[in-house]
Amino acid sequence: MHFSDLAILSSILALPVLGVPHPQAQSHLPDGLPSPDTTQVAHIEQVAQGTLPNSPAPTAISNEGIVNLKLIAFNELFEVAFFSELVNNVTNNVDGYTFKRDEDRSSMLEALKAIVAQEELHALRANDALKHFKATQVQPCKYKFPVQNLESAIKLAATFTDVVLGTLQDVVERFARGHDFDLAREIASVIGQEGEQQGWFRALLGKIPSELPFLTTSNLNFAFNAIQDFVVPGTCPDLNEIPLHTFEPLKILDMPGPRSQNISIEFRDPDDEARNPLWVTYINQQNVPVVQPLWVVSKKDKIVEAKVLFPFEEHDLKGLTIASVTKSAGPFGDASQVANHTLAGPGLITVD
Ligand SMILES: *[C@@H]1O[C@H](CO)[C@@H](O)[C@H](O)[C@H]1NC(C)=O
Ligand SMILES: *[C@@H]1O[C@H](CO)[C@@H](O)[C@H](O)[C@H]1NC(C)=O
Ligand SMILES: *[C@@H]1O[C@H](CO)[C@@H](O)[C@H](O)[C@H]1NC(C)=O
Repeated sequence: MHFSDLAILSSILALPVLGVPHPQAQSHLPDGLPSPDTTQVAHIEQVAQGTLPNSPAPTAISNEGIVNLKLIAFNELFEVAFFSELVNNVTNNVDGYTFKRDEDRSSMLEALKAIVAQEELHALRANDALKHFKATQVQPCKYKFPVQNLESAIKLAATFTDVVLGTLQDVVERFARGHDFDLAREIASVIGQEGEQQGWFRALLGKIPSELPFLTTSNLNFAFNAIQDFVVPGTCPDLNEIPLHTFEPLKILDMPGPRSQNISIEFRDPDDEARNPLWVTYINQQNVPVVQPLWVVSKKDKIVEAKVLFPFEEHDLKGLTIASVTKSAGPFGDASQVANHTLAGPGLITVD
């Protein structure tokens, strides 16, 4: 098959028609999540085209392993909310989510419904494991998504799936350090599954399916903060039960292209850390993090605007780059050392 045979979104979407009412923001998750009954689970498994693992959970788990499961449940519940709202938008022919041909709409819905159900099973598996280990289960929040049409929704899905694919690397490493080997294997099966989704999102956007030879790595703390961008503040019942760090928000004001250039960024700085030198640290592929000094352009009401070099050419910063404002120039050996010195972040940059 040639790439031109693929149904690239921009060619199959209908032009927006005005006047279709917008659905209410979702206040609860579908299929009885987060606590479906056995009939609902059977239905989810049918739509997901497969089952929850039926092997017994291990008898013990490390402390870091519990943090992994909490972050996974927090992430998967957010993904269920996102993809089910997307299914609703396509189902209801919301403006910006309509197709020229019915066949394209049906195959889109078929794929998206399987993704919703598969993410539901990921969320259930993580929360079931937390219950098994007598840890607090994660409850859903209310969410808001900065998208108004199918193309921006798929772009957003591709961005957060990239962060998930990087973060599950950290999950596996933490399980490995804690000797949680059964769980490490199961997560490896989910990494492949999320990668299959990502290949499809990229193809829909007209990109080649596989992004990089070695996907950009991340850290649980960066994912924890990235997901909070989509949470309605104050709506998570138990955010403080997840023992990860909340950083200040960072915005990348100019998305760089494939060349070295200075970019503008904005971050909150409540404790006036910008009195001292600060840096932007870039995590890309499996390479050693790249540190660049930033210079402050303005500061008003605890919001700092700054400039920093995005050294694309010197460091071949292709695919996903995770940027953060750090209070140290490093050098940092890996993403977790970067997270330990982060003031604000993550800022997500993708160059294809
Ligand atoms: C669904 O459509 C509404 C109305 O346009 C929009 O506000 C919301 O962000 C959309 N959600 C997704 C996931 O596409
Ligand atoms: C970035 O800005 C600095 C300081 O103004 C300047 O010296 C440098 O040449 C700029 N770099 C690029 C790639 O534009
Ligand atoms: C990061 O900080 C945590 C808690 O302070 C510590 O346990 C961990 O070893 C640090 N990790 C790195 C890579 O410095």
